[in-house]
Amino acid sequence: MSEVVHLTSNNSSLVLKVGGMPEVLHWGRRIHAVDADLLAATERAVSQARLDTDIPLTLCPESGRGLFSAPGIEGHRAGKDWAPVFSIIDEQVTEHRAVFTATDEIAALRLTIELQLDQYSDVLQKRMTVTNIGTDDHPYILNKFSNTLPLPAFATELMTFFGSWIREFHTERRDLMHGSFIQENRRGRTSHENFPGLMVGSKGFSEQHGEVYGFHLGWSGNHQLRVDAKSDGRRFLQAGELLLPGEVILAPGESYTTPWLYGTFSTDGLNGLSRRFHQFVRNEILRFPETCATGSVTNGQRRPVHLNTWEGIYFDHNPEYIMQMAEGAAEMGVERFIVDDGWFIGRDHDRAALGDWYLDEVKYPNGLEPVIARVNELGMEFGLWVEPEMINKDSNLYRNHPDWLLALPGYDQPSGRWQYVLDLQNKDCFQYLFARFNHLLSRYNIGYLKWDMNRELVQPGHEGHPAVHGQTLAFYRLIDELRTKHPDVEIESCSSGGGRIDFEVLKRTHRFWASDCNDALERQTIQKGMGYFFPPEVIGAHIGPEEVHSTKRRHHMNMRGITALFGHMGVELDPVQESAEQKQGMAHYIALHKTFRSLIHSGVSFRLDSADPTRNLYGVRNDNETLLAICQTAMGSYTLPEPVRFAGLDLKRQYRVTVVDMPTASFQLMKSRPAWMEEGVTLSGDTLMAIGLSLPLLDPESAMLIHLQSA
Ligand code: DGJ
Repeated sequence: MSEVVHLTSNNSSLVLKVGGMPEVLHWGRRIHAVDADLLAATERAVSQARLDTDIPLTLCPESGRGLFSAPGIEGHRAGKDWAPVFSIIDEQVTEHRAVFTATDEIAALRLTIELQLDQYSDVLQKRMTVTNIGTDDHPYILNKFSNTLPLPAFATELMTFFGSWIREFHTERRDLMHGSFIQENRRGRTSHENFPGLMVGSKGFSEQHGEVYGFHLGWSGNHQLRVDAKSDGRRFLQAGELLLPGEVILAPGESYTTPWLYGTFSTDGLNGLSRRFHQFVRNEILRFPETCATGSVTNGQRRPVHLNTWEGIYFDHNPEYIMQMAEGAAEMGVERFIVDDGWFIGRDHDRAALGDWYLDEVKYPNGLEPVIARVNELGMEFGLWVEPEMINKDSNLYRNHPDWLLALPGYDQPSGRWQYVLDLQNKDCFQYLFARFNHLLSRYNIGYLKWDMNRELVQPGHEGHPAVHGQTLAFYRLIDELRTKHPDVEIESCSSGGGRIDFEVLKRTHRFWASDCNDALERQTIQKGMGYFFPPEVIGAHIGPEEVHSTKRRHHMNMRGITALFGHMGVELDPVQESAEQKQGMAHYIALHKTFRSLIHSGVSFRLDSADPTRNLYGVRNDNETLLAICQTAMGSYTLPEPVRFAGLDLKRQYRVTVVDMPTASFQLMKSRPAWMEEGVTLSGDTLMAIGLSLPLLDPESAMLIHLQSA
């Protein structure tokens, strides 16, 4: 007998037809009650020249039931049991959570489907587990097991993500009227190229307008995402781990659980999606230890401003000089000082030493203690760079344990940045890594680890078997075990910049190094794309030197400072080499960041639509204030910029509007600037949203900040 289950959150509803395999009838805007006639109202017609009965698109589509689209599960048992058809045996439903259990007694499989709708953020989570309940000796070989969620008929436009090193989180729009969009990641880490997320919604959805759904698969290994428009017009998203041949073989009694799929929807464009994802990340993903000295503003603490030494000195480590850098950093207002790559034995360049996690006593004859003590004396926390999963062939570790490589015996594999990957499922190897990092964290006063991962997985073999799945879980376990021992240490997930950015790694880390690109113009795009899913406080954003190392572009301090302001801010250069003017500039933006840090790190992020694609308008607001950045990325499309019309204000309230920061360099584009800029103005929310505010002409690659304070 069919019946209906209704899960709710503050603004959304998930209505399922149950009794048989569950099928989504509605996922979107909150409905207040389920009508008695809903099943009759939603029953589909059956077309001529098709199967004689309606075939539901369930939470785990089955080919054996007659659904011709991509199945949710694919596998076999010695070539049999390849088209399972499940029957529900149990359902547990509460207001925000439903768990369905189903079995196929012939294929000897049990399927569990978990759905959770977060009451506050409206984020829906889904995952599934399959168990081999057979009793004979035949294991079940799982080829694919992916989470499916249906989409409404209007969801015809996709926004997908692509990228590469120093160019993460770019977006692309495409229509999907027929067929499939498929994204596959086979790189063994979340990857720069294929962020596991996408948006799909009504034609032309924008930052502020349109009905749109957003999805993210929380997983740091391989994945496949797909969106399908079936020939009958039904649409769905499917996301799961991409399994290599024979990667998951379930012996009787064994189970496999998918990564969590996160989804949410919005009726106010991409802003509604980011608002929901950010709230979910703040409440459900970030796990700051209770006792942590630093932390997110949402738990009443702060995130310190960084200086990271990488682009300042690269591998050239001299403790006396590093202490001078620390002094320069402290003078500018830096609160955490991180010694990057180059501190361990034999690490003079990137071709050697990974794996030998012992201090280089030639570079540091008095140990690391004097450097840490000086950093602490200057009032800063000390952080250290590590890359635990990696090994160079030119290392003592490799000479002693060549068999610890993640590899396929008998084959050669290309190196990446001259390095190879360690097999974390090898117990001795795991134990060695745990012992080394446990020792470092116990011996030194380290408050922060920058955990890097600089190459992709090729021939990822553990004892000959494909091992991306096992390697990813072992990586999580290594961090988890270290965090259990050292709960106060914060960890940054870095992978040549943004190669490992996802919700599952964020459950055990605190911040991402968004990109190795510190070019403020490129960062505008990277941080915008990343900001759809992640709140500013986890986006590592640093001011680099005037001439950018990665692109050789030059930017004024204004553009660099404002771009880094809306993240977890830091600087990435050698302060000893910087002019007094540059240091003053950095001190100014660090101070500005501290002034607005609690707003930026706990408020609602938003972007405003602009008719002129050369302008980025974005900011953060709370009930009382709004901080808006206007970044002119190229010469304006028109001589006059369009007025900025704010959003999210209270119509009736008065707001004091002031300029917080402007480019100091040139004003050659204007004879005069809008009058309100001189001393600020007080305007109603109504005026600010309906009529807006005139803007000055900005030079290309410059930015300004406007502040609204409710009067
Ligand atoms: C890649 C990272 O993204 C950089 O920030 C830096 O830590 C280098 N690795 C060090 O080798």
